[in-house]
Amino acid sequence: MDIFNKCHEDGGYLGIFRMMNDKYYTRPILNPYPGPEMEFQGKKVITWSINNYLGLARNEDLHKVSIKSIKEYGSSSPMGSRMLTGNTTKHEALEERLAAFEKKPSAILFNYGYLGVLGTMSSIVHRSDTIIIDKLSHACMIDGTFLAGGKYRFYKHNDMDDLEKQLKLARQRKTGGVLIVTEGVFGMRGDLAKLDQICDLKDKYEARVFVDDAHGCGVMGATGRGTTEHFGMIDRVDLYFSTFAKAFAAIGGFTCGDKEVIRYIRYNARTQIFAKSLPMVYVDTVNATLDKIEKEPQHRERLWEVARMLQKGLKEMGYNLGDTQSPITPVYVPAEPDVAMSIVAHLREKEGVFVSGVMYPVVPKGVILLRMIPTAAHSDEDVENTLVAFKNLRDEYHLKLTEVKM
Ligand SMILES: Cc1ncc(COP(=O)(O)O)c(C=O)c1O
Repeated sequence: MDIFNKCHEDGGYLGIFRMMNDKYYTRPILNPYPGPEMEFQGKKVITWSINNYLGLARNEDLHKVSIKSIKEYGSSSPMGSRMLTGNTTKHEALEERLAAFEKKPSAILFNYGYLGVLGTMSSIVHRSDTIIIDKLSHACMIDGTFLAGGKYRFYKHNDMDDLEKQLKLARQRKTGGVLIVTEGVFGMRGDLAKLDQICDLKDKYEARVFVDDAHGCGVMGATGRGTTEHFGMIDRVDLYFSTFAKAFAAIGGFTCGDKEVIRYIRYNARTQIFAKSLPMVYVDTVNATLDKIEKEPQHRERLWEVARMLQKGLKEMGYNLGDTQSPITPVYVPAEPDVAMSIVAHLREKEGVFVSGVMYPVVPKGVILLRMIPTAAHSDEDVENTLVAFKNLRDEYHLKLTEVKM
């Protein structure tokens, strides 16, 4: 059998869309710059699908920093991995700043968030250890679990009784340690991990906890330090991770924790040891972005203002937003797959509102999740026009909104 046979058939992820060479629901082309207004299929749309939480993508000050850095270093610098020839004073200084920001002793940079999670989990967890992971965790944490090669158990989403049950079962084995793995803000649904209860359980069962706060860092907590700050759990979460791909509007990521643990990860995370160092332009730009996050709370305040306006308006119209406690705004609409696709197209074509639709298995059959990401860059008018669009959608499709139970 030819190993390439599968490429001519409609199996695999989104295989039907692949076979149709789709560019509408999958891989839509959005030009020219990330922001609340973009171009889709030749038309301007209000975009609610970009994790530009603080509105810093194309921020003028940061843009200047990036240009200056590129002028100085080009796109090549540094050459080599951190372990060999790609370490610089600026990389180390940024790690120290990130650790200080998160009030942890030490931090390590990674080139992508995905690689950061993979590298952190697979270096810390060995064959004799066990990972206990929330079932709704992002794909990189699931892949990190498999790559680590230890034992693993899933617990029901945010279900503390089930987490305790899995901890008890894991502890019946006498060898190895236990790492609890969860998102801080769940990226699809916007709800929060119960970090206070998770930390109580990890103490009770002598486990450790790793929190991927990709959607919480810069967004949650009184000073934007993340979901750990929101819960007052900065000291109790053992390993805190975030990407730079969302609130920071850049590329890369970091993990922070105790000095010796981070030093161990530094010497054992294959996704960092065997990969070229984070390019200088990102080191310089993220450093400047951290200044903004620390000194300019107005970006975070505006984000929350937009989020509250949008969520309030949608709720008043009867839309079900589930348990979101963050700016992520999941709109659950009852719809079979063909209607679901037509709803997404209606919003884009007729209303000029670009949202991404997520279907089964992320949500139950018969439901489409229209996932909306408010940002500090959206205007009041963007929100108002979008609310009108959702009113029109509700009325034209005669949506039975009360039928959705999430
Ligand atoms: C929870 C979570 N972790 C990690 C990542 C990966 O980050 P990056 O895009 O920087 O690789 C994402 C990105 O979608 C995410 O949502």
